[in-house]
Amino acid sequence: MDDKPLAYNVWQELADAYSAHIDTKPHNAYLDRPAVLGLMPDVAGQRVLDAGCGPGAYSEELLKRGARVVACDASDRMLELAGQRLQTAIEQGRVELSLLDLTQPLELFADESFDVVIAPLCLDYIGDWTSLFREFRRILKPGGVLLFSAGHPAFDAEYFDTDDYFALEQVECTWTGFGKEVSMPSFRRSLEDFIMPVIEAGFHLERLHEPRPTEQFRQADPVRYASLLRRPIFLCIRAKSP
Ligand SMILES: C[S@@+](CC[C@H](N)C(=O)[O-])C[C@H]1O[C@@H](n2cnc3c(N)ncnc32)[C@H](O)[C@@H]1O
Repeated sequence: MDDKPLAYNVWQELADAYSAHIDTKPHNAYLDRPAVLGLMPDVAGQRVLDAGCGPGAYSEELLKRGARVVACDASDRMLELAGQRLQTAIEQGRVELSLLDLTQPLELFADESFDVVIAPLCLDYIGDWTSLFREFRRILKPGGVLLFSAGHPAFDAEYFDTDDYFALEQVECTWTGFGKEVSMPSFRRSLEDFIMPVIEAGFHLERLHEPRPTEQFRQADPVRYASLLRRPIFLCIRAKSP
């Protein structure tokens, strides 16, 4: 990859800390993951792409459920960490890792070669969802499932204090939740720009889910739990290729 995608440097810098926290960080472990995994179809024996896999927490769960996994990410450090987490499955040939930028055509993958594509919490760093979702549709078999989560448009509009809700905006905020402070760039978008690329790529929308925090979240962080019960921060979508 010659031109690095948005947030590449920050993800490289944050990778080790993210990996160290991912199993117990409430927003990931007790909010996003239970919600996305709750929408997951039966993946036993299925070929699944874990797009923007980070250190591989989702791939690990997919493998436990009997999937054959291709895990890809733009950050080489994230892939090294995923390699450590998934080492046994790699040796057994049940998972492949791939360094890949989701803003580029997914030329590595053949048409109709996956049963399921998941993309949890990685699409906020990508501006053009229309091209990417067309690629997801191309590589999914007929009847295949696309499952993703990203920042909730209503939450993001308020959090980033936008004065133009309808614009696709590059925004930036300070993250301290992974044990080190970084300035994280991302995109915020309207609800229309969140949903229409799915429909325009030809998918049938099956589920739209606004995750509530779990009981484990309450035990770990009661203050944020109370807030998240009233104000969703993520939005999850499950869609099917016809
Ligand atoms: C919040 S982490 C999510 C990781 C994993 N999906 C999870 O939920 O634990 C975001 C990931 O997206 C990856 N990412 C960001 N932009 C990307 C791009 N253009 N192509 C591929 N991966 C990207 C980052 O490197 C990072 O690993």
